[in-house]
Amino acid sequence: LRVAVVTGGRSGEHEVSRKSAASVLANLDPARYRPEQVLITRSGEWVFGTDAPVNVFAAVDRLRSADVVFPTLHGPYGEDGTLQSVLEMTGVPYVGNGVLASAAGMDKDLTKRLVAAEGVPVADGVVSRPTDPDDLPSEAELRRLGLPVFVKPARAGSSLGVSRVTRWTDLPAALRQARRSDPKVLIEEGVPGREIDVAVLEYPDGRVVAGPALEIRVTDQRSFFDFDAKYGDPGTVFEIPARLYDQIADRLADLAVRAFRALGCSGLARIDFFLRDGVEPVFNEINTFPGFTPVSQYPRIWQVAGLSYPALLDILIETALV
Ligand code: DAL
Ligand code: MG
Repeated sequence: LRVAVVTGGRSGEHEVSRKSAASVLANLDPARYRPEQVLITRSGEWVFGTDAPVNVFAAVDRLRSADVVFPTLHGPYGEDGTLQSVLEMTGVPYVGNGVLASAAGMDKDLTKRLVAAEGVPVADGVVSRPTDPDDLPSEAELRRLGLPVFVKPARAGSSLGVSRVTRWTDLPAALRQARRSDPKVLIEEGVPGREIDVAVLEYPDGRVVAGPALEIRVTDQRSFFDFDAKYGDPGTVFEIPARLYDQIADRLADLAVRAFRALGCSGLARIDFFLRDGVEPVFNEINTFPGFTPVSQYPRIWQVAGLSYPALLDILIETALV
């Protein structure tokens, strides 16, 4: 099977995607697959293997010769349905989520509305759009959220542009920083408690399964699981399975699958929760193409569940080809 592993891209998570794809390429069984790396540069040119760069129009034509595409991209222009729509138009099968789930899952505000409508608890928050002065949070809204708040670009990943605000005087700077990634910004209550990720995988027979919960612990010097804690801090610890009462673990798995279905996901997703005060699950966000680096949560969760990285890739590809 010819597998085109698309990587890089125009988002702020370009480098993370490169690491994810390197690890996917290293784990695709050479007896089963003929992988080719397809690198999208930061400026949006496409490089197939070691060939000269081509533009997106030529690239789409060339992607049609793949048997399956592995869109190993994080963030806008890759994880947000734009690439998926091109693949739909050309009819090439691809791993993971379709256009709608990818687009909805990229926007943390829309995601929360969709999952909340299915009964999944979400963190309280307000949306701020600079183009609409009426959308700026009122003092009453800010008082309701209380400190600390998290200020996040609506459409970004790996915590890029996210800050934890502990004094209202720091809010304008945090908004400016988030807007460098996206004009649409979320201001959310800080949920005190634990941080738990749940991996969801769709098997070729249509079964949708949640893996063992993963707990994230960052070192005391960090106020949250930020970019450096994600990729550079050896002090960041993942505990799999997280130490949870069965009842809470079951509830998290149920909510994760419910969120997966609420967005109409397919293939895979990693759904991130807080456990308010250590007991009450609160949906944080969904990653429709979660990190696949060797230190990333998704492949590590499945390893603990008994699925090796290559076996996980087999399932993702088989499901894509159904
Ligand atoms: N957005 C990053 C890659 C993650 O979900 O792990
Ligand atoms: Mg994310």
